[in-house]
Amino acid sequence: MNNVFNVFSILMMLILAPCSAQNKNNAVNANTPNPLIEKKVSALLSKMTLEEKIGQMNQYNGFWDVTGPTPSTGDAAKKYEHLKKGYVGSMLNVRGVDEVRAVQKIAVEETRLGIPLIIGFDVIHGFKTLSPIPLAEAASWDLEAIKRSAQVAAKEASAAGINWTFAPMVDISRDARWGRVMEGAGEDSFLGSKIAHARVKGFQGDDLTAPETIVACAKHWAGYGFAESGKDYNTVDVGTSTLYNVIFPPFKAATDAGVRTFMNSFNELNGIPATGNAFLQRQILKDKWQFDGFVVSDWGSIKEMMAHGHAINKKHAAELAANAGSDMDMESYAYIDELANLVKEGRVKEAVIDDAVKRILRVKFELGLFDDPYRYCNNDVEKQVTGSQEIHEAVLDMAKKSIVLLKNEKSILPLKKQGQKIALIGALASDKTSPLGSWRLAAEDDTAISVLEGMQNYTGNTVSFAKGADLTLGKSTFPLELVINTTDKSGFSEAVQVAKTADVVVMVLGEHGFHSGEARSRTDLGLPGVQQALLEAVYNVNQNIVLVLNNGRPLTIPWADAHIPAIVEAWQLGTQSGNAIAQVLYGDYNPSGKLPMTFPRSVGQIPIYYNHKNTGRPVMPAPNEVFWAHYMDESNTSLYAFGHGLSYTTFSYTNLSVEKVANQTFKVSVTLKNTGKVAGKEVVQLYIRDMVASVTRPVKELKGFEMVALEPNQEVKVSFNLTQDELGFFNNEGKFIVEPGDFKVFVGGSSVTALEANFKL
Ligand code: BGC
Repeated sequence: MNNVFNVFSILMMLILAPCSAQNKNNAVNANTPNPLIEKKVSALLSKMTLEEKIGQMNQYNGFWDVTGPTPSTGDAAKKYEHLKKGYVGSMLNVRGVDEVRAVQKIAVEETRLGIPLIIGFDVIHGFKTLSPIPLAEAASWDLEAIKRSAQVAAKEASAAGINWTFAPMVDISRDARWGRVMEGAGEDSFLGSKIAHARVKGFQGDDLTAPETIVACAKHWAGYGFAESGKDYNTVDVGTSTLYNVIFPPFKAATDAGVRTFMNSFNELNGIPATGNAFLQRQILKDKWQFDGFVVSDWGSIKEMMAHGHAINKKHAAELAANAGSDMDMESYAYIDELANLVKEGRVKEAVIDDAVKRILRVKFELGLFDDPYRYCNNDVEKQVTGSQEIHEAVLDMAKKSIVLLKNEKSILPLKKQGQKIALIGALASDKTSPLGSWRLAAEDDTAISVLEGMQNYTGNTVSFAKGADLTLGKSTFPLELVINTTDKSGFSEAVQVAKTADVVVMVLGEHGFHSGEARSRTDLGLPGVQQALLEAVYNVNQNIVLVLNNGRPLTIPWADAHIPAIVEAWQLGTQSGNAIAQVLYGDYNPSGKLPMTFPRSVGQIPIYYNHKNTGRPVMPAPNEVFWAHYMDESNTSLYAFGHGLSYTTFSYTNLSVEKVANQTFKVSVTLKNTGKVAGKEVVQLYIRDMVASVTRPVKELKGFEMVALEPNQEVKVSFNLTQDELGFFNNEGKFIVEPGDFKVFVGGSSVTALEANFKL
C-alpha cells in the first residue's frame, strides 16, 4: 500500500471494490468446489454412522483451558471417552505440538474411521508473540501490514499445532462501551470490509495445505456489535437497512476472500437468537452467498437459547440450531446428547446432518489433514518459529503503524534526543503485561516491552520514572482477570516531584489490557481509577506533557484534549509495544495512523459515528432555537473524528475534481502535498453522500482510501474510481440498487476536514 511518488508524475487508479455490483446482488461464492475433495467427502460420509456424523459436529474445549463459563455438564473423562469413540470433530484451546499431537493421535489412531480433528484457537492478534489489538491494527489503514500481521500470527500458531483461528472478528460497532470493540476494525463497514478481506487472506493464504496457513473464521454472525447499551451479550434489534448496509458487508467481504468458517453470535437478532437464526445462517450465508464452509456456534450459544426464552430445553435448542444451519456445537453438549434422537424422531432430517458434516469434512480435507494429520505437529518447527526474529519484526512494524497522533501543539513531539530531563509517569509506563491486551491466551505475562524499556534505548536523555498510582488492585491473570480500579493516591507526591524539574513529562495512562475484551463493557469511558486526578496533579506543576494513551476502545478525555499539548493514541500494541511507542515519541517513526472509531466527548453521545443520517432537523433553525436534533448539554460533534490522525509533517489537499469516465463511473482526483519539513505518510480518504434516495443515506460514507508517502514539498495527484459498487446501496428488501441523482464527494485526511464537490449520477 505504501508508495513513494515522483513529483507531479503519478496517477493512481484504484479499483475500490473486490466484487462487482452484480456480485453483490447475486452473491457468487469465491470458492469453487474442488471435485476431488467433494468425491472424498461423499465417500467418507457414506461410511459414517449417524453417531459418527454427529461426532463431527461436536467441538470440545481442551481438558485444561476455559475461555467461557465452565461447562456444568461434561467433564474431562466424558470428553476423553467421546474422543476415543470418534464423537469429537474438533477441539479448541489445545495448544502446543505435544498436546495437539496427543489428542490428534487418539482421533486418528484409536477411532473407527480415524478422522482427524480440526484444532481451533483464538488467535486474535498473535499467538505467543502478540501484535497490536485488532482495533489498533485497523488504525493503520494499512491493508498489507494487517495481512502480514495475520500471516505471522498464522505462522506462529500453526507451528504450535493450531490449524483454525476464531478470527477475524468483523463485527461493526458504534458503541465504545462494548468491550469487544478492541477485537474488531471499528465503526465503518467499508474499512471493516477491506480489513476483513486482508485478515482472511493473511491467515489462510492462497493454499490451506501450506503448513503456515490456518483456517479463518468470520465472527460473530451477526449483529453482536450492536448489543443494546453496549452491554456484552445484550439484545440486538436493528432495522434491515443497517443490517444489509452496515453489519453484513464485512462478512460478505470475508466470504469473498474465501473464509472457510463462520461463528455465530451470542445475541438475539430482532427476536431470534443468532444460533437458531435460519435467516442469517441459511438464507443469507449459505443460500444467497453460497458459503460452503461451516458455521460453528459460539461457546455454549446453543444451550443459551433456553435462557433467551427461545428453546424449551437442550433438545429443543439442538433442533433449532441444527435446522437453522449451525453446523458445529462449541461446548453446549447439545448435539452430542440430543441430535441422534432428534433425527430418529424426524425433527431434524438426516440431510441436515449430512450437509453439516460435509462442510466440516470439506474444510478438513482442504487443510490436508487427511494426508497428514500431524502436519502441524513438528517440535523443531515449533521451536524455530515461536518468538522468532521475523515475527518480532512484523509485530513491531505493525505496532508503529497502529499509533495515532491525536494532538501535537507547541511541537512538543517528537522529543529531542539529547540533553533532556524526561519524567515518565504512570503505572502503564512500566507494565509489561497490560500492553498484551485482551485475548492473549498463549502469551506469557511480563513479555511485552514496556514504554520505560523502549525509552531507555535512547540514551541521550535522562529518564526518571515514577508510577504515581497503580491502575488496578492486585495482579490480573487469565481467566479470572478481575480489574478493580485502585483509589490509592499515595504515589502522587513522588510523581509530582519528578515532574517538577523535568523538561518534558511523558504520562502513560489509560486502560489495563483487561479493561476491554469480552464481557468488559463499561459505562464510564474516562481514564479509570485515579489517573485523571494524577494527570491534573502533574499538570499543576508542569504543563509540558505528552499523554500516551493505552486503551482498547475510544475514551472520553475532554479535559486532556483541552489542557495537554500532545496526545498519542497507542492502544494496546502487543509484545513490541514500548519499542514502537519510543520510536514514535522520538520521531524515528513518523505516525500515520487514523482513528477507525469516533472518540466521543461524553458517554451520553454514544452511539456516535461519522456516517449518521441527517434527520429532518439537522441544524439550528434560528439563533437559540431548541427544536432541532441536539443535546442541551453537549455538542453534536465528536472529540476526535473517525479518520483523524496527525503526522509530524503537514499535508495540503487541493484541486479536487470529478470526471465522468464511463456510464455510472466517475474518477475523483485530488492533489496531495507534503507541506511540512519531514517525510510522512497520509491516508487520503474519499467519502460520498447520496443526497436523495428511496432509503435515506448517511451524511458521509467512506468509499475509498489510499496511503501515500511523500517527501517534504513533494506532491502527487491521487485518483479514485467511483463505480456502481460505491454509489449503490442495499434497499430494505436486501437488494443492491443504484439510484440516479445528486451526489457529493469529499476528500481529505479525516471524515471532517475535506474538500467537497458535486456530481450527478
Ligand atoms: C467468544 C468467541 C470465542 C470463543 C472461544 C467465546 O466466548 O465469544 O469469540 O472464539 O469464546 O474461545
